[in-house]
Amino acid sequence: MKTLIIMLLYFFFSVSFCAGSSHSYVIQLPEPAPDSDISVEEAIESRRSIRTFGSESISLTDLSRLLHSAQGITSEYGYRAAPSAGATFPLSVFVIIENVDSLEAGIYVYEPANKSLTSVRMGYFLAELSDAALGQTCVRDVPAVIAITAEYGIITSVYGNRGRRYAYMEAGHVSQNIYLQCTAMDLGTVAIGAFTDNTVMEILGLSEDETPLYLMPVGRPVEP
Ligand SMILES: Cc1cc2nc3c(=O)[nH]c(=O)nc-3n(C[C@H](O)[C@H](O)[C@H](O)COP(=O)(O)O)c2cc1C
Repeated sequence: MKTLIIMLLYFFFSVSFCAGSSHSYVIQLPEPAPDSDISVEEAIESRRSIRTFGSESISLTDLSRLLHSAQGITSEYGYRAAPSAGATFPLSVFVIIENVDSLEAGIYVYEPANKSLTSVRMGYFLAELSDAALGQTCVRDVPAVIAITAEYGIITSVYGNRGRRYAYMEAGHVSQNIYLQCTAMDLGTVAIGAFTDNTVMEILGLSEDETPLYLMPVGRPVEP
């Protein structure tokens, strides 16, 4: 009986450790993929929302480039690839990964200052995320989904209620950078705004202070 109890306790703690979020770790991203051959004009002309993706994985250098274009630090003063009202930077970028080279499936948050990813939860979450996005299959059948979230308090503490509007605008800038960067790297994406906030918050492990604004599936485009 004692052995059985010990085994049950062991099983319980092993499972909660695997599914748990307390043991986060940091992954240093490689240098972003080199410049593409596509001009910004060509990228703007050919950008389209893509909702059907191939099964190929995304390379870590491509992911690094995408995240850098979304929120990377591009100046010695800490300014980033996308503009931010008063340089307050209320947004975070998460990536929900199922098929990226050398990365375990799971949810990670991008750390612009270190060009790294910090793990949030390990496992496969895209099916759940797709359910939260009203069943949109492009959120499920894809190697990875980038999520843009906002912490309004960071920006409303400077601009009052108007700060919320600024956070929405900033998410648009980040999203467009991701669209154009995908186009330049022969990847596809779509800005997804239709989802249930609370469910996405639970999946990403967000606090009450953080709100998800956009989901952006990313993968190699295929004809639907
Ligand atoms: C705020 C916003 C929310 C959107 N939400 C969704 C969405 O939930 N699902 C989707 O498939 N497309 C979504 N889209 C993408 C639009 O449907 C798409 O941009 C539009 O059809 C024009 O196509 P294009 O992006 O290829 O030019 C959204 C776009 C914006 C700007």
